[in-house]
Amino acid sequence: MAAQTTASPSTGSSSAAAFWADADRHLVRYGGDFTREIIERAAGSFVFTADGRKILDFTSGQMSAILGHSHPEIVATVQRQVATLDHLYSGMLSGPVVDLARRLAGTLPGPLEKALLLTTGAESNEAAIRMAKLVTGKHEIVSFARSWHGMTQAAASATYSAGRKGYGPGAPGNFAIPVPNAYRPDFTTAEGTLDWRRQLDFAFDLIDAQSTGSLAACLVEPILSSGGIIEPPAGYFAALRAKCRERGMLLILDEAQTGLCRTGTWYAFERDGVVPDILTLSKTLGAGLPLAAVITTAEIEQEAYERGFLFFTTHVADPLVAAVGNTVLDVLTDDKLDERARSLGAFLRDGLEDIASRHEVVGDIRGRGLLAGLELVVDRETKRSSDELGARVTRRCLQLGLHMNIVQLPGMGGVFRIAPPLTATEDELALGLSILDEAIGDACAALESR
Ligand SMILES: Cc1ncc(COP(=O)(O)O)c(C=O)c1O
Repeated sequence: MAAQTTASPSTGSSSAAAFWADADRHLVRYGGDFTREIIERAAGSFVFTADGRKILDFTSGQMSAILGHSHPEIVATVQRQVATLDHLYSGMLSGPVVDLARRLAGTLPGPLEKALLLTTGAESNEAAIRMAKLVTGKHEIVSFARSWHGMTQAAASATYSAGRKGYGPGAPGNFAIPVPNAYRPDFTTAEGTLDWRRQLDFAFDLIDAQSTGSLAACLVEPILSSGGIIEPPAGYFAALRAKCRERGMLLILDEAQTGLCRTGTWYAFERDGVVPDILTLSKTLGAGLPLAAVITTAEIEQEAYERGFLFFTTHVADPLVAAVGNTVLDVLTDDKLDERARSLGAFLRDGLEDIASRHEVVGDIRGRGLLAGLELVVDRETKRSSDELGARVTRRCLQLGLHMNIVQLPGMGGVFRIAPPLTATEDELALGLSILDEAIGDACAALESR
């Protein structure tokens, strides 16, 4: 038998070597390489490494921890709930579940009043797609060509930004429509700006040509996050909904990242005056814990029920995470974190504009509230991109104490996704901005000196 190594990361470099030897030997690499830091604990807007470094978390973990890490009220809820009622037979109900369903309905416009409480974002989209197929009796699903809806079969079949190659066929009847990207418009007006109406009409001409007459639903993010923080223009979702209505399709909005105050309103769709037929929530709902929801109208739920809707999972309607969801709603409401996301978002935006004014390589700043995007280009005129520049800035940020996530997709510059916790302070945002500023400067200088 091979000799065992055990690592206690808090002690010295030899144990760090053992940690990485164990990690390299025993962990599956599920998404490229791991960040080469050993994280020992996290609190508020920071994560702390075993070698004593403090790193500002501008991704809120995996875009989830909107209340920062280990928020005291979440800690108290988990401790209390796990000690009283943790998990149940999936057909049994408890107070936290019914409370959360009722309270979520209270944050949403009228027809959205029935909730299914699940665990992950992929699972919520999987359930939403199953529901849409069942109630329409159809199976074709339309989503954005830069979408990310999750790693399970139906969600992955509707995901186009990554992960399609090498796994055999996706679900039959999945179609992509182009993303209305104002910075890199493909359909343009005479003035050269994005002509999203023509783009959308053209997209649905192609969908109609390919469809076998079985269009069930359109599944989209109100702001594409993994697609590079792209915010479709005002009016787009109303037009998309009209396209759905004309074809008897349901509109499913995936607010995994945008829901629960991050963009400055409780839900991003509020800007558009469009209410989806089905809404999915995940990451932000559990604020770091695994909780997701599918929310729909009484009419759709009734139809699904009559047709025998089945989505029976081990952790459906689990009391522990439902209690966390209730506490997340308490904190968001009590601390008015929608307003805070708006004001901190404006502060962040000003800081990013300031950085753009000093670095030619910043091509675009976009996003809403505390979900911001910064696109790096080598040349503002041609908008040419450089993966190396993005990788250097990311690396330098981490050295200087800031964790940032970069999206690198073909035909785009590196896009930083900036999503600090809604509980972050202005000082923390200012610290992150100054590190980003320095890192961009250092990366450009290093590239020029070669
Ligand atoms: C918009 C969106 N939907 C769904 C998902 C999938 O969520 P999960 O990873 O919890 O399955 C993600 C994850 O990044 C996402 O960004």
